[in-house]
Amino acid sequence: MANSSPSLTTPIRLNNGLTMPQIHLGVYLMSGAEASHAVHHALDAGYRAVDSAQMYRNEKQVGNAILDWLKSHPDVKREDIHYTTKLASNSDYARARQSISKSVRECGLGYVDLFLLHSPYGGKQARLESWRALEDAVKDGEVRIAGVSNFGEKHLEELLASKPRITPAVNQIEVHPFNTRSNLTSYCQSHDIVVEAYAPLARALRMKHPTILELSKKYGCTAGQLMVRWSCQHGYVPLPKSVRKERIVENGQIGGFEIDGRDMKKMDGLDEYLVTDWDPVDAD
Ligand SMILES: NC(=O)c1ccc[n+]([C@@H]2O[C@H](COP(=O)([O-])OP(=O)(O)OC[C@H]3O[C@@H](n4cnc5c(N)ncnc54)[C@H](OP(=O)(O)O)[C@@H]3O)[C@@H](O)[C@H]2O)c1
Repeated sequence: MANSSPSLTTPIRLNNGLTMPQIHLGVYLMSGAEASHAVHHALDAGYRAVDSAQMYRNEKQVGNAILDWLKSHPDVKREDIHYTTKLASNSDYARARQSISKSVRECGLGYVDLFLLHSPYGGKQARLESWRALEDAVKDGEVRIAGVSNFGEKHLEELLASKPRITPAVNQIEVHPFNTRSNLTSYCQSHDIVVEAYAPLARALRMKHPTILELSKKYGCTAGQLMVRWSCQHGYVPLPKSVRKERIVENGQIGGFEIDGRDMKKMDGLDEYLVTDWDPVDAD
């Protein structure tokens, strides 16, 4: 799945025939105002995808910022922007279905491009009923693409065994050189489920790691660019987050170099199962 010239808008093909851009701005831990500014900076810099969630409490500001930016850029259409949000908690069908519709209204974008079950928490019944609600949201035109997040292999197997009408197009999980999750990423890729890599910069906890510094120097890039590029070369969809304009720009400029095979392996070898946030992949 290597990709030799990834960019912000490289189309990633999904198992439903649709595509989405390869790099998305993450907006976790941003206030509404920060998210609004960050979205403007990102769209100015050429990003065409934003990753929000009900839990981030900034869906409205992100949606408004996209609409606002589009007004001053008539050459870019709503369909050119890919907006993701996530269901905070799995529950029974009716509650999940209502919650999805509420998010669609909240963002003001008319529809959500990618809607994810944020985690596997809640047990089997809640997972499967919430998935059915998401399938109906796709059928009803509120959502274009359905996916999951923080699902381990057993949760994906459970979902696939339930004979869903829609196969999840993506699994969004924590993946970076310090937490490579190679078994789970291989499972996803072999089942044609795109891996969205959250915390692709390892939350900036390893920017000064000697190998990261050595390879950044070798490739004439920054630590952030090296890590985003590593993610893209694995065929993942990284979601780098920053509130700062210069970093938003920097994290998206990863086309000027290519990490060679030996150095990709060297970066893979940095794995230490570093969890930067939560880790629900083994949930019951
Ligand atoms: N599905 C899930 O459960 C889940 C969980 C976590 C995250 N996510 C998604 O993934 C996105 C990214 O993950 P994340 O926000 O946890 O972590 P991240 O993107 O790996 O790292 C963000 C941190 O790195 C800093 N940073 C950004 N660019 C930098 C650069 N070029 N040089 C140095 N530092 C830099 C940011 O600070 P500044 O903002 O100050 O620049 C921030 O502290 C989230 O925003 C969210 O959309 C999903």
